[in-house]
Amino acid sequence: MKFLPVLLALFFGVCSFPSVSLRAEEASTPSVKVLVTYHSLSGHTERMAEAVASGAKELPGTQVLLKRVGEVTAEDLFSSDAVVVGSPVYWSNMSGEVKSFFDDWQFKFGVFPEFKMKNKVGAAFATGGQVSGGKEVTMLSILAAMLGNQMIVVSGGGAFGASATTEGDSPGIDKGELADARLLGMRVAEISAMLKHGQAR
Ligand SMILES: Cc1cc2nc3c(=O)[nH]c(=O)nc-3n(C[C@H](O)[C@H](O)[C@H](O)COP(=O)(O)O)c2cc1C
Repeated sequence: MKFLPVLLALFFGVCSFPSVSLRAEEASTPSVKVLVTYHSLSGHTERMAEAVASGAKELPGTQVLLKRVGEVTAEDLFSSDAVVVGSPVYWSNMSGEVKSFFDDWQFKFGVFPEFKMKNKVGAAFATGGQVSGGKEVTMLSILAAMLGNQMIVVSGGGAFGASATTEGDSPGIDKGELADARLLGMRVAEISAMLKHGQAR
């Protein structure tokens, strides 16, 4: 009988092996990295960017980097599994800063001819002053630049991404618009995890 504690310890020790090794496996699985990047002059697109980032963080194991387009480095871009780009609508399209960011993918980061962004997840968000002033064109232009880079584009929040009307009868960013931005971030993280690990953990 004096060996009973030893036997029990051995039994529970052996039984706990699988969960220990599972935890070790989870810890060694690289997390999904999502880069959320944006241009914003008066802060509206920045608020949406923060909400996209917080949505992405809701999926455990997601690392999120939030940066203005001008601050993104080659390392930020190439180490990311997903890139979410946000722009204010300028003349019914993405702003010049955001367009320059995409042009810099070649000028600064040399993505072509190897297609270094290939198979990364991409998504878009936009804010515009007017209800029908070009938010969808802006998001589609962002997605078009991503498709040209052979990225896998996804939507979320709205049909083409998350968007907000910021002037007139709908000043600033409201709760529903922030919720859409969070949903977009969450979906991007989920799809990225599915592509990287075969499932959203
Ligand atoms: C140069 C310029 C052009 C703009 N053109 C449009 C436009 O075509 N359609 C629209 O809905 N809003 C337009 N806007 C309004 C901005 O898109 C809107 O205020 C946006 O929310 C600003 O984002 P931010 O606060 O992140 O800078 C324009 C603003 C500027 C400064």
